[in-house]
Amino acid sequence: MKIAISSDHGGNNLRKEIMALLDELGFSYEDFGPQDDSSVDYPDYAKPVSEGVASGNFDKGILICGTGIGMSIAANKVKGIRCALVHDVFSAKATRCHNDSNIIAMGERVIGPGLAREIVATWLQTDFEGGRHERRIEKITALEEQK
Ligand code: RB5
Repeated sequence: MKIAISSDHGGNNLRKEIMALLDELGFSYEDFGPQDDSSVDYPDYAKPVSEGVASGNFDKGILICGTGIGMSIAANKVKGIRCALVHDVFSAKATRCHNDSNIIAMGERVIGPGLAREIVATWLQTDFEGGRHERRIEKITALEEQK
């Protein structure tokens, strides 16, 4: 599995923590920055991860900002992206089982690194259930075509 990850300045510390987790778990990933702590605009960092996942270059994406909200809004503007804003382990599992989310967003100012690690590990290791949920994903995709 190939993973793309990025943050804004508000998510730099948690992004480093999550990259350490990915190393520990043996997942390969590409880091889309930022490379220093200067203030940046989160859509600029959501874009390469979201487009990378939507194009199939990456299987999953991880986006982190202060709240996770800006990143999730930006990511969900990209066709084919189902980005879930998650701050608990139950939702991490449910959004893979039911929504087949392909990007997870989290807020460094919302949760601590221990919980964030559990969330990401759960999210990466949970499969989509398919079945009735497949029909619902198809209806989400149909909404994208309405524009
Ligand atoms: C940056 O200050 C902050 O607005 C950003 O990290 C994020 O929380 C936006 O949704």
